[in-house]
Amino acid sequence: MSPDLETDAHPDACEVLARCDELAAISARPDGIERVYLTPEHRKANDLVQEWMLRAGLVTWVDAAGNVCGRREGRVPGLPALLLGSHLDTVPDAGRYDGILGVVLAVAVAERLRDRGRDLPFALEVVGFSDEEGARFGKALLGSSAVAGLWDQEWWELADRDGTTLREATEQFGLDTALIGTAARRREDLVGYLEAHIEQGPELEAADAALGYVTSIAGALRLTLVVTGEARHAGGTPYPRRRDALVGASEIVTAVERRVRDSDAVATVGRLEVQPGAVNVIPGRVELTLDLRAATDAERDALWEELHAEMRRTCAARGLGLEVRRDHVAAAARTAGRLRQAVVAGIAAAGDPAPLGLWSRAGHDAMVMAAVTDVAMLFVRCHDGISHHPGESVRADDVDRALVALEAAVLALAGTS
Ligand code: GLV
Ligand code: MN
Ligand code: MN
Repeated sequence: MSPDLETDAHPDACEVLARCDELAAISARPDGIERVYLTPEHRKANDLVQEWMLRAGLVTWVDAAGNVCGRREGRVPGLPALLLGSHLDTVPDAGRYDGILGVVLAVAVAERLRDRGRDLPFALEVVGFSDEEGARFGKALLGSSAVAGLWDQEWWELADRDGTTLREATEQFGLDTALIGTAARRREDLVGYLEAHIEQGPELEAADAALGYVTSIAGALRLTLVVTGEARHAGGTPYPRRRDALVGASEIVTAVERRVRDSDAVATVGRLEVQPGAVNVIPGRVELTLDLRAATDAERDALWEELHAEMRRTCAARGLGLEVRRDHVAAAARTAGRLRQAVVAGIAAAGDPAPLGLWSRAGHDAMVMAAVTDVAMLFVRCHDGISHHPGESVRADDVDRALVALEAAVLALAGTS
């Protein structure tokens, strides 16, 4: 939060920000924020959010994928539910708002609606998804995939860096893998899914706008590339005999940027592991990750085909092997007209009658939830577009507007349901 703001002017927003601070304190590392799937930190975060949900008058449970859920019935019990939420897991050395703000705002809106005594023509549910970032098992959006009924039984064998499989971690967390199907929701039981999230980009700030709505969410592809050469003596091996996997990998990294930077897509090599990793040994093997995002799946896939062909040429010219593993594919998702209109009406109620519509280059639980129900998203300005970094920050007055907008969006939907 910007230190220069008069936070007393926005008591509900300050409560939301204080809750984000409380969650930030639940971390696997003393010097920053790290909270990944199926860990003691995940459990502590679920416990805390469940407490807040209970205070907001919701009936709570943790589902078979470790998502924390709360529900308040509508006019009559058993009506289809409008889901509000986002995720509670983080990247390593994270900021305190990515995902978290959306869950905390959703709980606060549920509480405000309860306090106003509003009976809605649908049930209201809040969900804190357990894994969106994929930081532990490489596969992202696990929590929402279970809710959307998209769980793939092969995922149980995914392993974290210590070799613990998703199956083992799930059992150690106290969940029954055989029950994963019970987390899935049926289309007929849902009204839609609304997610508030920090923008994670600079466009709202550049437009001097506190809030925006999302038109579509990027299609994502995450790959691991393994470049193999030959580890040999750094001194004794002349250049014509060297098959240096790191030099090949470096060419790949710069070629990716050169090809993608002038398109509307984005590509990132976020991890590079060099083996054997010794100062006097030519690198024999490099594993690197590639994250590729574009507005449509077709654009993303065409770009990947082109990049892959260039990588193969680079490796062949250097006598290197190239192996590709697909870790995660998520289809691009469009937000749905009726829900999007409700978000636009919500932003208008918060003071901006002509809000900005943005496509999201970041992935969100909403893109998976789109497989089972209509989705829409409310974006909240964040300072300098900084995210996936401890420097994430939001303004209390923007959080106040987000509360007004999300509540008004729910009421707008109630008016049309
Ligand atoms: C999630 O934050 C992603 O877009 O990687
Ligand atoms: Mn994130
Ligand atoms: Mn997020």
